[in-house]
Amino acid sequence: MRRTTTMASLAALTATTLLLAACGGGDSGGDGTATDGGDGGGEASGGKALRLALNQTEEHPSYISLDNWGTSLEEATEGRWSIDVFPNETLGAQAEALQLVSSGSVDMAVVSSPQLENLNADFAAFEMPGVFDDTEEQLRILNDPAISGELFASLEESQKITVLGVLTQGARSIYTSFGPVETPADLAGKKIRVQETDKWIAIAEALGGAATPMAFGELYTGLQAGVVDAAENNEVSYWTQKHYEVAPDWTYTNHMIGADYIIINTDTLNSMSEEDKAVFLEGVTATYTEHAELWGQATQDAIDNATAGGATFHEIDNTPFKEALAAIVPSLLKSETQQALYDAVVAAAE
Ligand code: GCU
Repeated sequence: MRRTTTMASLAALTATTLLLAACGGGDSGGDGTATDGGDGGGEASGGKALRLALNQTEEHPSYISLDNWGTSLEEATEGRWSIDVFPNETLGAQAEALQLVSSGSVDMAVVSSPQLENLNADFAAFEMPGVFDDTEEQLRILNDPAISGELFASLEESQKITVLGVLTQGARSIYTSFGPVETPADLAGKKIRVQETDKWIAIAEALGGAATPMAFGELYTGLQAGVVDAAENNEVSYWTQKHYEVAPDWTYTNHMIGADYIIINTDTLNSMSEEDKAVFLEGVTATYTEHAELWGQATQDAIDNATAGGATFHEIDNTPFKEALAAIVPSLLKSETQQALYDAVVAAAE
């Protein structure tokens, strides 16, 4: 298993290196002025297009809001900075994208909470079941510098990664290839794909199944081939990744409001003039706000489209799932720092 993952990662990294070389250092900017050769920093005289790695499709609110940020950044800095969003894992799955941002080969990425948890376990405190009532509350709290500022800067020295802000993943629920579920007992013996952390393995077990960690981009074929029987995500990814085709029953467990993080190579960020950096950082708030505004309609469209494609969305009393997860939260908080961060988030949510 480990060997397969390593080989797959190596293959992805090789493919990414070739792609970056073919892109001439990523010069695919809209006006053709971006020429900086992928060293992760430096303000090129002709302007620099920041390459951003994303694992979602072009219909996804993340792509749309990040792409819009790139356009407004280019205008506001008179072409000195722009953002090129590479969707569909073109620059690698999130685990690879994280490494590439750290090394400066790629400037920016959106990665899910578990990826950062693998570098600093304290991030787990910001993505726990049962904390937030809704996505507005999540974004208000997690994007508050008084709560998250220190954590967001915690990878700068060791990894050269600056966390800029949180995009919501909305509420995640279970979907299955074998019919709907009503209680954790219905998932007994079933393999649930999870993101690659111990936290998510424990969550899948509490939901009643057996966890299979797997990269997002491998999940469609994983479900199709029966390597896994179930997965969990938001409706938007369920639709845009076409997972409804191979796992047509969606059950509203609403077990977690997940967090995606926008990250940038720290040297790249610090290579901006103070003026350009201020403009760039204003774009973070505009981006997660626009993303949140798009999210509701994108969710409704995803439900309608997946239903038309043969999926069924099942409402249940999710109390048994909620109680099973509430019971494991104390064991998911592994240190005093994590407990303190979690307590701060919970207090802000009350
Ligand atoms: C969501 C999230 C992604 C994440 C994915 C997953 O779609 O936005 O960042 O990779 O879930 O389950 O892997």
